[in-house]
Amino acid sequence: MGSATLLPLLQHLTKTDLLKKVASRSFAALTVTKTQFISTMSVGKDNVSSLKRRLVQLFETSLRKTVPGEPDLVPIVDSCSDKSGGKFGDYQCNNAMVLWSKIKGKHTGFKGPQAIGQAIMKNLPPSEMMESCSVADPGFVNVVLSKDWIAQILLRMLIDGIDTWAPLLPLKTAVVDFSSPNIAKEMHVGNLRSTIIGDTLARMLEFSHVEVLRRNHVGDWGTQFGMLIEFLFEKFPNPEEVNEAAIGDLQAFYKASKLRFDGDAEFKQRAQQAVVRLQGGEDRYHKAWKQICEISRTEFCRVYERLGIKLEEKGESFYNPYIPKVLEEVDSKGLIEESEGARVIFVDGVNIPLIVMKSDGGYNYASTDLVALWYRLNEEKAEWIIYVTDFGQQQHFDMFFKVARRVGWLPTDDSLYPKATHVGFGLVLGEDGKRFRTRNTDVVRLVDLLDEAKSRSKTAVLERDAAKDWPEEEVEKTAQAVGYGAVKYADLKNNRLSNYTFNFDQMLNDKGNTAVYLLYAHARICSIIRKSGKDIEELKKNGKIVLDHEGERALGLHLVQFSEVVEEACTNLLPNTLCDYLYNLSDIFTKKFYSNCQVIGSSEETSRLLLCEATATVMRKCFYLLGIEPVYKI
Ligand code: ARG
Repeated sequence: MGSATLLPLLQHLTKTDLLKKVASRSFAALTVTKTQFISTMSVGKDNVSSLKRRLVQLFETSLRKTVPGEPDLVPIVDSCSDKSGGKFGDYQCNNAMVLWSKIKGKHTGFKGPQAIGQAIMKNLPPSEMMESCSVADPGFVNVVLSKDWIAQILLRMLIDGIDTWAPLLPLKTAVVDFSSPNIAKEMHVGNLRSTIIGDTLARMLEFSHVEVLRRNHVGDWGTQFGMLIEFLFEKFPNPEEVNEAAIGDLQAFYKASKLRFDGDAEFKQRAQQAVVRLQGGEDRYHKAWKQICEISRTEFCRVYERLGIKLEEKGESFYNPYIPKVLEEVDSKGLIEESEGARVIFVDGVNIPLIVMKSDGGYNYASTDLVALWYRLNEEKAEWIIYVTDFGQQQHFDMFFKVARRVGWLPTDDSLYPKATHVGFGLVLGEDGKRFRTRNTDVVRLVDLLDEAKSRSKTAVLERDAAKDWPEEEVEKTAQAVGYGAVKYADLKNNRLSNYTFNFDQMLNDKGNTAVYLLYAHARICSIIRKSGKDIEELKKNGKIVLDHEGERALGLHLVQFSEVVEEACTNLLPNTLCDYLYNLSDIFTKKFYSNCQVIGSSEETSRLLLCEATATVMRKCFYLLGIEPVYKI
């Protein structure tokens, strides 16, 4: 069934029906595009999830009435606060211009986009959420939202909890493949970026009711293991003696074994045989491989623990048993050919082929990834598979995604579910503009970075008067939240596609767009509430929110936009969208609201305290989604 025929069907579904459809996966098969989904989504009265979605619905009704019979009426609705500073309204509908170019010359009675805009405005169903509407040249329909409606929505959120604002996405299960370091190698800053970005994406999707399989696709297979195993046998003839302490720095161990491999032909030969014996499942080799993986794993877990990252390891080796069967399926479609002894697949637009079996009969990174994709789609029933790695791997992903489309595992239209997306990111640079390194080593050790961030932020915490009589535990906790939060935020606030410069002074600055500034802003809001001496739970039950002052209204409007921002960040897989929102929230709170509206002791105290509470609640949710621990005191 095509999406055009499906559309009228969906209009009669309630949100619960849609969720059920998604749950039964029949939805993925029906393949509706995202925009169509949003526009057909029915938002119940009790649901406050997305303000924009509600407007889209109203405009959809109006558009159908304005130009009956016109196909593809997808409302184009945008928030206008960023562009025009909200001068004409809060939201605008831009369909009139597009419609005019489509119907001009037909006998519709419309003389231009202005007239269409006027008709769209007139045909809008009555709604309590709108205060007024107007049409601006050439045909924008501007909407001013009702401040009473915004106030009501805010109070509901405070009472029912912010999770009721979670956006609803048209999928049930996703895989986020992130972090994925290579065994026996140190986790480097590139892995750090993948870990931070991947964790945030997973958190945002989870918040939006998607079941996320957080996958650590560790590099635990491949020819390097022959070398490592042989070296291990040489160093520790008795396998009982192998442990983390004895091996010491696994990276140094890797380097030493590589030296041996490159310098001794006899060792090299043994190493190559070791790979064959490992892959053949020989016990002694398998045990040694497991020991090496285990030591690496312990090291990786230390970083994950510090950063509060949850991940489930399904490394490259996991997919090994499935490779022959899956490649057979690919082969049956006539895609695999022979080239210089290897088995390869040529894809459109790329002049090198994807090698799925090397000339020695072994499998590689690409074969594993192709099979892992099959597994995730068919065994794990994931509808969206998201890979977070540096930009340099784009071609690799592009190639096996194309293969998956040709085999028929993925639809040819890549806007449809199920889909696979590569989330690429740029390099981490040092202040010299070159790839980030420390003075004495090639790679920056992650643990050292985190230690330094924490100790620098501890020094800063201790310099604050307010922290003078804090117990040691509180200082530690704050230093950790601020230090690790700073590292994460400095990464996430940039568009992931750009390179970013790692700079401790900048990320730990308490002014500007940093986690430190935001965490302190949150703590300050909490302290306003504490200082009032009021029981906020009591206020939620009996109080009311009023948005009469311009500053109150601006803050209220920004708060109710939270849900659509998370939805946008999920759809585009861009965490910086959420960072921008958070930074603007803090800015609007301080500059528009707090500096103009006295809270404690004013006649609007209750309403303003509730606004403070709503701001702190939304900020905390943003922190949570960005993987940052909040701070309540400064
Ligand atoms: N281990 C790889 C690396 O360090 C990243 C793996 C990413 N995931 C994947 N399915 N290829 O570059």
